[in-house]
Amino acid sequence: MNKIEEIKAWKKEKDIVILAHYYVEGDVQEIADFVGDSYALAKKATEVSQQNILFCGVRFMGESAKLLNPDKHVYMADLEADCFMARMVTAEQVKKVKAEHPLAAVVCYVNSTAEVKALSDVCVTSSNAIRVVKKMKEKEIFFIPDNHLAHFVADAVPEKTFIFHNGFCPVHQDITVNDIKSTKAQHIGAPVLAHPECPAEILKEADFIGSTSEIIDFAGKSGEKEFIIATETGVFHQLLKENPDKKFYPAMEKQVCTNMKKVTLDKVHEVLSDLDSQEEIILRDDMMEAAKEPLEKMLALAK
Ligand code: 13P
Ligand code: SF4
Repeated sequence: MNKIEEIKAWKKEKDIVILAHYYVEGDVQEIADFVGDSYALAKKATEVSQQNILFCGVRFMGESAKLLNPDKHVYMADLEADCFMARMVTAEQVKKVKAEHPLAAVVCYVNSTAEVKALSDVCVTSSNAIRVVKKMKEKEIFFIPDNHLAHFVADAVPEKTFIFHNGFCPVHQDITVNDIKSTKAQHIGAPVLAHPECPAEILKEADFIGSTSEIIDFAGKSGEKEFIIATETGVFHQLLKENPDKKFYPAMEKQVCTNMKKVTLDKVHEVLSDLDSQEEIILRDDMMEAAKEPLEKMLALAK
């Protein structure tokens, strides 16, 4: 048996489901049972019947799966794969702003640690943030950690006031207006599809703004044949798989999340080969309860 056949056999034998994000390598997406954006993955984690979950993505995704399924065993293909942005906001910063603004709701992008989620009122992902924030009863919103997503949401929900954090995703932050303009000049007429983690000046150049799965969905339904993509290049795998007749160009040369790329087929194979000796995602009991609430609230409000 080759590695892929072994992985398939172990999935059944070890009662394990593989969930993967669109930013991991294409060969990993191919052996996953489900590939999605952050919202779809969190939702899927509550629906799977298997007792074990292997997450191919970054740590906060595995933590969310564990929070929503405390009785299941959640493993990571690479426990070192972490999200840079998730580490940009600390519990102390959140506590300070909460003390200064006691009436504000803390809206926490799912790209955050369990410790920070535990201090938050609700979680959001890029695909549901506007919908969820609109439904919050509080008028004042402290949005953590992504300041670009926060401004995108604030523009769409002018009836609320926002306190911004200064977090960002380095992958999206690095895309410049010059990159977009020169890519547009090379592919005249190709619409720009951008992730809301991009800075506002990039979003101004976009024809469509959405999460990874919304970008994939938009490209599939569009009558256009060529697109400029302003997000991590892992999405190209699914874009090309679903649209072999269309062309996709990155907005800049290096739109790569080095943490997502730590997840490889070899690591998936290694973890599954010896599941019993693998370290699981374990969170403190007191934190589990508090951090689960904002995630469950998101799932309820995003419906
Ligand atoms: P989505 O897949 O929800 O668009 O999130 C992008 C991301 O940065 C995940 O880390
Ligand atoms: Fe975090 Fe950005 Fe990587 Fe997503 S792409 S995991 S937001 S660092």
